[in-house]
Amino acid sequence: MAELRYDGRVALITGAGGGLGREYALMFAARGASVVVNDLGGGPSGDGDGTKIADKVVAEIRAKGGKAVANYDSVEEGEKLVQTALDHFGRIDIIVNNAGIIRDRSFARISDTDWDLIHRVHVRGAFLITRAAWPHMKKQKYGRIIMTSSASGLYGNFGQANYSAAKMGLVGLCNTLSIEGTKYNIHCNTIAPIAGSRLTEDIIPEEIFKLLKAEAVAPVVLYLCHEECEENGGVFESGAGWVGQVKVQRAEGVVFATEAAKLTPENVRDSWSTVGDMSTCHYPTAAGDSTVLVVQSFENAKRDITRSTTSAEEDGFNPSLAIGQKFPSAQFSYTPNDVILYALGVGASTSQPDHLKFLFELNEDFCTLPSFAVLLGQKGMGNLFMGRIPGLRDIDITKILHGEQYLEVFKPMPTSGTLTTESQIADIVDKGSGALILTETKAYNENKELLSLSQSAIFLVGAGGFGGRKKSEKAKLTVKPPSRSPDASMKEKTSIDQAALYRLTGDANPLHIDPAFAAMGGFSKPILHGLCSFGFSCRHVLKQFADNDVTKFKAVKCRFAKPVLPGQTIQTDMWREGNRIHFQTKVAETGTVVISGAYVDLINLAPQPTVVEPAASESSLASDVLFQELGRQLSEHPDLVKKAKGIFLYIITKDGKEASQWTLDLKTAGGAVYRGQPKTGKSNVTVTIADADFVDLVSGKLSGQQAFMTGRLKVKGNVMLLQKISQLLVAKAKL
Ligand code: NAI
Repeated sequence: MAELRYDGRVALITGAGGGLGREYALMFAARGASVVVNDLGGGPSGDGDGTKIADKVVAEIRAKGGKAVANYDSVEEGEKLVQTALDHFGRIDIIVNNAGIIRDRSFARISDTDWDLIHRVHVRGAFLITRAAWPHMKKQKYGRIIMTSSASGLYGNFGQANYSAAKMGLVGLCNTLSIEGTKYNIHCNTIAPIAGSRLTEDIIPEEIFKLLKAEAVAPVVLYLCHEECEENGGVFESGAGWVGQVKVQRAEGVVFATEAAKLTPENVRDSWSTVGDMSTCHYPTAAGDSTVLVVQSFENAKRDITRSTTSAEEDGFNPSLAIGQKFPSAQFSYTPNDVILYALGVGASTSQPDHLKFLFELNEDFCTLPSFAVLLGQKGMGNLFMGRIPGLRDIDITKILHGEQYLEVFKPMPTSGTLTTESQIADIVDKGSGALILTETKAYNENKELLSLSQSAIFLVGAGGFGGRKKSEKAKLTVKPPSRSPDASMKEKTSIDQAALYRLTGDANPLHIDPAFAAMGGFSKPILHGLCSFGFSCRHVLKQFADNDVTKFKAVKCRFAKPVLPGQTIQTDMWREGNRIHFQTKVAETGTVVISGAYVDLINLAPQPTVVEPAASESSLASDVLFQELGRQLSEHPDLVKKAKGIFLYIITKDGKEASQWTLDLKTAGGAVYRGQPKTGKSNVTVTIADADFVDLVSGKLSGQQAFMTGRLKVKGNVMLLQKISQLLVAKAKL
């Protein structure tokens, strides 16, 4: 792995004579940066000054062959610090605003000096230095700036009101600089370190103090200051070799705009738990985001008012009111760990070498299984259970069944990111015994590009008969598979803990883990999530027909027929029809169909022969194996197709009776071998031969001529073409 280097970069580290700043300076210099080591050398509360400690760090750097100069000004002399960088090194690329003091007092005892001095060093110092460097960074279109905050600011700490206020002030400064700097490639991030230093020796217990080595924070600061790092406006806590991001989150909240819920102190009190409900929340990253979300919530609420006739209708089940309701947009952040957890949840395993690309973030082909996008739809679907949708507020969630699922991906899912989802009730149809609610969720990436569309069909048992339409033109429909036996089939045993694992991807319904809860639902044990079996089958199709290439996945539709129990074997039977792969999923042990009417649409598939894998029970003919082998040979040697352009129908007999038919299509691009009559055009040659004779013919024991002459091989059509194909069969089928 290439080392992150800073050659040619000039870094100014304030308060670098000791503690954290010193570690930053040493590490920057060791990796090629020219460093300005600033420190006025005072005491921890800002008293006194001296040159010694900055000089010592400079000497240390130079002794190791690095480049550094000292600066002894207070950070309140911002311009002088930046000037030192320009005078000695000609530019300024990196600023770590690190200098700091503390003047801890309980709030009532804080003097004006305690307050002002803290603010002058921390906030005003960072402001003056950054302002002095800003025009240079803008001009060179490059800058990396660090603000130093503290857990005391982020969360509060007794006796540090002055310090907490200043440290949070730096977060605010960083937030705005990150916005203003973006277009000049100036990034600003905040670090909230945790380290044993003279500032914390009286605060942190001795044994913990020893663990919190100052050098453990430096690599995080260095990464944030590298040109490769895209991070901007982030806040990161770091200490003892740990680092984690801190974000401001905002609850979905409550809009008081309806007649039933006016904005009164009493209504605010009664909704207080929802006001603070963080189960679905947003992470606004700019003041504008927050305003947009507020306005959006109001727009939704206003529509509720205009559409509702009476509050009773709003509270009950009222499909016409519910259709078209949009849910507030939400954000979904995920990391490679989530991507890997999902892959494990749907059965990817390190026992399969070709699964490593789904399981190892450093694999050069690391990618996200396309069906991962269904998790976003599931989030949208979750709105149904919150009781917040006008017209669907009063539905009985114990009567809800996830009936069908459609998913379309427009771009391969990234391996990490923050996606925005927009969900709505697309339609509700009257199925007599129940109502079918179609929820749709669109997911967008950070550039506002549409990544996926998920449509879930939710069956609400007992809610039919409301006089609604029987069909919806918005519904994506299931499609029956062809009536022939499957072209391919894959079986995989699920783990006994499959549901326990899959639920960690977001569907924590106890039905999938708690035996008592499952029993209440009438199940002998907790069942596997329908979307887990769905994930298995999508993976099977992708492997069988697209060589695990996720860029070839376009869409999937399926109906959930029955549940799978963890530990059972999932069998996906597949049929290829052009770029559409029909599939049906069964429990192999019982033969029960669990997913029906399903298909995956793939794109950019090379024309390829269809290799037929008959179910073991279906055929006991030796010739079947030969035809399958021939299919494989054709996929490996497409040149064979060009040699004999024709369609061959083989009628295989056993005990004098027709036992099976196979088509060898060498006319269609890529060729195809499949059971049954030709699907495109007519056969040029029809061959009738006994199963055993066919084996002898292919193995070379029986010559074609001899078979023909003795009547064991009957041919209709172009015999010359057959001669070519006979040679091909003998030459290529590996018996
Ligand atoms: P430290 O006291 O070892 O280092 C701070 C350095 O800043 C000292 O060398 C001091 O001489 C220098 N300094 C103070 N006022 C200055 C001024 N006006 N101009 C130039 N230099 C000045 O403390 P430590 O722990 O390394 O702290 C570094 C930064 O990290 C500070 O901003 C502190 O508030 C912050 N921090 C530290 C935490 C910790 O656990 N050590 C926790 C949270 C924040």
